[in-house]
Amino acid sequence: MAEPRRAIGVDVGGSGIKAAVVDIDAGAFSSERLRVPTPKPSTPEAVAASIGRLVRRLVKASEVDATVPVGIGLPGVVLDGVLKTAANIDPSWVDFPITERLEKSLKRPVTIANDADVAGIAEMRFGVGKGRGGVVIMLTLGTGVGSAIFIDGMLVPNAEFGQMEIRGRPAERRSASVARTRRGLSWKAWASDLDEHLHRIDDLIWPDLIILGGGVSKNGPKFIPRLTMRPEVVPAQLRNDAGIIGAAVVAYERLTLGTPAAASTRATSAVAATTASATPAAAPADATTEP
Ligand code: BGC
Repeated sequence: MAEPRRAIGVDVGGSGIKAAVVDIDAGAFSSERLRVPTPKPSTPEAVAASIGRLVRRLVKASEVDATVPVGIGLPGVVLDGVLKTAANIDPSWVDFPITERLEKSLKRPVTIANDADVAGIAEMRFGVGKGRGGVVIMLTLGTGVGSAIFIDGMLVPNAEFGQMEIRGRPAERRSASVARTRRGLSWKAWASDLDEHLHRIDDLIWPDLIILGGGVSKNGPKFIPRLTMRPEVVPAQLRNDAGIIGAAVVAYERLTLGTPAAASTRATSAVAATTASATPAAAPADATTEP
């Protein structure tokens, strides 16, 4: 039997860093899921050291060889293998050469991408977005609000709906899941702030479907029925695992498509979330054209 296609997925969040070995075809973990608290301050060096420890533990426990790549979802805009924004992580991340730094220490290929983009890829391929065409928006509600746009299953990377200005400040300050607990709001009060944010997105993009992810998605019945949206709104299926699974998928497929690991995350746009996962070679031709 052929070896399973595997990659290590890492999800760097505001409170925890989570990692697992992922079976790319099944969209499921093939190891235990590890979690450590995000270091404070969350500098790139401190986070890189935590990622290094997690990856080494997984490699040892699951006997993955040196060709197995690592994909990392990070909470900011990703271009050319570096973060360009850092709203919910230490500002020293901006332009820090994290891909290079981790490839050197882990001695395996590393790919970074925006955390919501990779979570969206996992939901579109293995979760509630499977087979959904048209315009789909995935929002992750956590420490911040992450967003991903899919057009017929293709990602438009680095959408930042959490940063759009509502009532004079970034929308995520009111609609993130952390904003509810920080402000001690009822589900009803928070749902109304989230509703305002979703309406603003709808006014701009007119999506066919909105998927709400992040840990809070398990409480969907407490707030989704209170929303007054035109398009269908559904909770994510993979919940907090989506970020790890999607990061692994992106790492694996960029490599098999011949894209250098440290190249532009723009290559992520070529990851067709709904393409049958067993046929990476069938991904769009432009996926192979990145230098
Ligand atoms: C960042 C996004 C990120 C989101 C979720 C926001 O503050 O701007 O890039 O996807 O948080 O982590």
